[in-house]
Amino acid sequence: MLPDICKDIEPNFLLCDSALEHIVTHFRRELQAGLEQRGEDVAMIPSFVPGVPDGSEQGTFLALDLGGTNLRVCEVRLLGNHKFEMKQQKYKVSDELKEGEATVLLDYIADSVDAFLTEIGSDVAPEKGEPLLLGFTFSFPVEQTAIDSGTLLTWTKGFNAKNAIGNDVVKLLNDAFERKHIHVRCSALVNDTVGTLLSRSYQHGPALIGAIFGTGTNGAYIDKTSTIKKLGEKHICELEECGEHAGEYMVINTEWGAFDNKRQCLPVSIFDAKLDRMSINPRKQAFEKMVSGMYLGEITRNILLHLIDSNVLFGGYSTDVLNEHYGFDTSFVSAVEGAKTDEDVITAITDILKVKRKYVEPRDVELVRWATKLVAHRAAFLAATAIAAVVQLTEKHRRAEDKETIDVGVDGSVAQYLPGFETNVRVALRKLLGEAGEKRITIGLAKDGSGVGAALTALQAKKAIERSKKAAAK
Ligand code: BGC
Repeated sequence: MLPDICKDIEPNFLLCDSALEHIVTHFRRELQAGLEQRGEDVAMIPSFVPGVPDGSEQGTFLALDLGGTNLRVCEVRLLGNHKFEMKQQKYKVSDELKEGEATVLLDYIADSVDAFLTEIGSDVAPEKGEPLLLGFTFSFPVEQTAIDSGTLLTWTKGFNAKNAIGNDVVKLLNDAFERKHIHVRCSALVNDTVGTLLSRSYQHGPALIGAIFGTGTNGAYIDKTSTIKKLGEKHICELEECGEHAGEYMVINTEWGAFDNKRQCLPVSIFDAKLDRMSINPRKQAFEKMVSGMYLGEITRNILLHLIDSNVLFGGYSTDVLNEHYGFDTSFVSAVEGAKTDEDVITAITDILKVKRKYVEPRDVELVRWATKLVAHRAAFLAATAIAAVVQLTEKHRRAEDKETIDVGVDGSVAQYLPGFETNVRVALRKLLGEAGEKRITIGLAKDGSGVGAALTALQAKKAIERSKKAAAK
């Protein structure tokens, strides 16, 4: 039997059918608002990527990936038969870099590219005198104005570098390459969700949605360019009919992590409120703070501390790990959710939380399981509301290839390592879309979405450059 205190906590975590539906209705409204005008919480950013690949694409590209746990530099070889090869190197981004001057961060990124080229080497041979072109997966909200430019709207996920917001990210990076005399130039900028959508489509066939459930969360989808009303009719016509990246369709980066920043429908518990208040971006990324890997450990920590302080857990004894802000991460939630036996849970409690074995009673095991389950289930159910909202939003104008089945490519540590995540997403999708609706949806891992997606975008940018060179020569 769980103590009474649990009953007070549960309502903000166990989402009933009507609560889920209410959230999806709000979600659709915010997605629509973002398409209609700029400055909305859910930014709905046009990516200027006009379609998804068919798997035949070939070429070797350098790619950079910033926005997850590490900085990655990779070289991706697209083999053209839905397959690719990749060599990569990870570089740590310290908290000082995340929160210091942006130029210092970008110099570090440029140096990492240089180190990759020196230590690992590249097979790309640019034309004589031409720089090496690079695709940049930059996983933050950026208002794109073209495939190779866009201004940073805000930082998320623990980044807060100074003098970057409002600046063109591609320019900041290219300036750093110039400062360092590195003969590399960024030619394509892409969000990781857009990359995931492209990568999933390249490997598996046309997908409708690319979603990240990792350190942060976000989704991109493909829809008619004409739905992005805020671009204005003239611009939409130009994009549909001519221009370098013309097309009837466009990939749209939703930035759904900022859904319900106004807290109109999300189930904000005292644990969520505390997490938000003490974060470096209070009142921002409300949805992300309930769904993504950066925060699930911290919500759990807040719940466990509340139980300890109420003298119902671990005999009322805490530990340094439990007392420390972000003292443990989502891998604890994954360990408990994946535990086959109570002994496995006890191991996670003693190894990760550093609680002495003598303070762990069978009832504590039950309480810890209860707490991680609440947090993990709610994250998956909310993730489903985002997917359902996009599916409903695109209902009327989906491409022929998305009519029978709707494919969702996913990537990120929560999707990959949190046991039961997809199963729970499906449970909620069934509630929201009905059994037939849920069955139409396929969900698959889009491995290395960021690297492959950046390479595929760099390929599109290269083709566009070649086209405009040819046109100029005529
Ligand atoms: C960012 C998105 C990104 C997502 C997943 C969020 O915090 O705002 O741009 O796609 O994290 O990495």
